[in-house]
Amino acid sequence: MKIALSILTLDFSNVENKFRSLAEGVDYIHMDIMDAEFVPNISFGYSIVANLRKLTDKPFDTHLMMMHPQNYINQFASAGSQYITFHVEADCDVMSTINQIKDAGVKAGISIKPNTSVEEIEKYLPYVDMVLVMSVEPGFGGQKFMPSAIDKVKKLKELKEKNNYNYLINIDGGINGETAPYISKYVDLAVSGSYICNATNPDERIEILKKL
Ligand code: DX5
Ligand code: ZN
Repeated sequence: MKIALSILTLDFSNVENKFRSLAEGVDYIHMDIMDAEFVPNISFGYSIVANLRKLTDKPFDTHLMMMHPQNYINQFASAGSQYITFHVEADCDVMSTINQIKDAGVKAGISIKPNTSVEEIEKYLPYVDMVLVMSVEPGFGGQKFMPSAIDKVKKLKELKEKNNYNYLINIDGGINGETAPYISKYVDLAVSGSYICNATNPDERIEILKKL
């Protein structure tokens, strides 16, 4: 299983050293962007993403938890994102937002919150490069994994194999050494934040997840 590091709960007081060393061990960096409207929290914006871009060559998987993602695609593309993922529950035209991301030269992802079913995004699956299943309510790091996400990643893998789709299956929220074994056979990558960022030995935890 490949690992995307969420830096949401990273201590930014010594960010350059910490970020560089954590980035070395993982496959992707997951950037959580929050607008205080789609979710009840604020995180950071595209200038921080652009700054962090200078510190690593690892691909950025940018997760827009925004009500109007369509207004910010070019900014996050220019900041150096390789994937931009937005929510089907956002206030936007889903198909044109997917096309907007692709037109910006970036891979397009779609995400579903815990109360949204896979059926609700089925018609978009032929057109996306990533599907991100939320296994917590978006908005905060360090929450408990919701097992209802397991069937969703399983279904997405079945649909992908049956139809020869190209998307990566990703899961986000509460992923750690105990919860990851439930999903590792269905996903291509998993987001992990607090489990890695808050560890005394983060590399050990990255290795635990990577082996699954
Ligand atoms: C939640 C974010 C997640 C979060 C993951 O709104 O989308 O990416 O940072 O953090 P952990 O791994 O701590 O659940
Ligand atoms: Zn996220």
